[in-house]
Amino acid sequence: MEKVAVYPGSFDPITNGHLDLLERGLKIFDRIVIAIAANPAKKPLFSLEERIEMIQQSLANSPFQDRVQVDTFQGLLVEYVRKVRANAILRGLRAISDFEYEFQMALMNRKLSNEIETLFLMTAMRWIYISSRIIKEVVTSGGCVNGLVPEPVELKLVEKLRPALQTSL
Ligand code: PNS
Repeated sequence: MEKVAVYPGSFDPITNGHLDLLERGLKIFDRIVIAIAANPAKKPLFSLEERIEMIQQSLANSPFQDRVQVDTFQGLLVEYVRKVRANAILRGLRAISDFEYEFQMALMNRKLSNEIETLFLMTAMRWIYISSRIIKEVVTSGGCVNGLVPEPVELKLVEKLRPALQTSL
C-alpha cells in the first residue's frame, strides 16, 4: 500500500526548514501532499495562489518533486486527510515551545479521527531558529534571509515587504 502523508501548515511563506522536513519525510512516505490551510483569520502576507506558486518554484529543480503535491484545504484537517486518502499527518518540531501546541493539535485530530496518526520529525539543527514569522520580521526590518528560504521566496518577500529595494537584490 502506498504511504501518503499530508504536511499541513500556513506556509506563509515556505522556508528551508519546511523543505528539509519535506525531504526527510519522503524517506518515510512514498508521497507527501503539502496542504496549505486557507485561514483568512490569520491574515497571511501571501495569498494562497502566491504560496502555491512559491512552493512549486522552490521544488522545481528538486529530485523529489514528482512525489510532492501542493494543495489547499479549508475546514478540518482530518477531513482533508481522509479526502486525499492519506495515512498520516506530518509536522515538524523545532523547540519545546512548539510542543504544547502540536501536542494539543495532534490529540484533537486523533479525537476527531482515530485512524489518522500524526508523525513528528525534529527540525534539523541548522533550521531550528527559523519560522515564517521571524523571516518576515527580518525582511521587513531590512535584514537578509539569504540561505534561510528558497531563492524565489526571498525575491517575493523583498518585493512584498520592501518594494523600494527590490531592484537592489
Ligand atoms: O503552520 P501552522 O499555522 O502552524 O499550521 C496550523 C494548521 C494549519 C496545521 C492547523 O491550524 C490546522 O490543522 N488547521 C485546520 C483546522 C483544524 O483541523 N483544526 C482542528 C485541529 S486543532
